[in-house]
Amino acid sequence: MTVFVTSEETLKVITIDGPAGSGKSTVSRLLAHRLGWIYVTTGAIYRTLALMLFEAGTGVQDRGSIERFVAFLSERYRQDPRSGRVFLGDREITHEIRTPFVSEQASLVAQDELVRRRLLPVQRKVVLDCNGAVVDGRDMGTVVFPDAPLKIFLTASPEQRAQRRLDELRAQNLEPSLDELIREIHARDARDANRLVAPMRPAEDAVLLDSTELEPNAVVRAVLRLCVDRGLVPGLEES
Ligand code: DC
Repeated sequence: MTVFVTSEETLKVITIDGPAGSGKSTVSRLLAHRLGWIYVTTGAIYRTLALMLFEAGTGVQDRGSIERFVAFLSERYRQDPRSGRVFLGDREITHEIRTPFVSEQASLVAQDELVRRRLLPVQRKVVLDCNGAVVDGRDMGTVVFPDAPLKIFLTASPEQRAQRRLDELRAQNLEPSLDELIREIHARDARDANRLVAPMRPAEDAVLLDSTELEPNAVVRAVLRLCVDRGLVPGLEES
């Protein structure tokens, strides 16, 4: 196994942005594991807020609920950095937040300026007190961690992304059609990329990677090479 030796002194963040199904979460998790860093998927935070609003029978127009729910979420939201399991207090919501319905709701909720402003410190807080973090989302490199030393924008063809979503949902015994998923992905991409606040786009200094033809481990190797090139990873130890 290869183990990377990292410097303890500074917090290191690698941002991985990109559209739904581009492989961000798989790559980020594997990469974090290789580096011994934590992995944070910020989409899960938007998804959790969307689930809370839905369960309360309200929406983003209810500004009071946003304030209360974000305050609650800030205290009680937890992502297991290794497994990626998500908890709100004692309740596990890992699977509930991954349904196509919540995906759609999260994308709608994420358009709201107040939501984004309030969730900004929540996202930054998760990476405090750790050695290093791999964070994925839509605006990690542009807004949340603009000073990150390495920013990746990961893409893949819409067909490939829909296929990956289908595999993921099948693992949860859900069976949407591929065509339906392709339509949803196009609609969500358009909404995420065209919203007024913090739209999904590569940071000016981001490295663009296309994962259509690449296995996740090949993407991870490419990112690790960039880490070494940028001095983020000072050395390699073979064991
Ligand atoms: O990464 P994901 O598919 O779990 O994200 C779900 C939705 O949340 C996505 O459609 C847009 C929104 N989102 C966002 O606007 N900004 C982020 N940093 C992460 C997610």
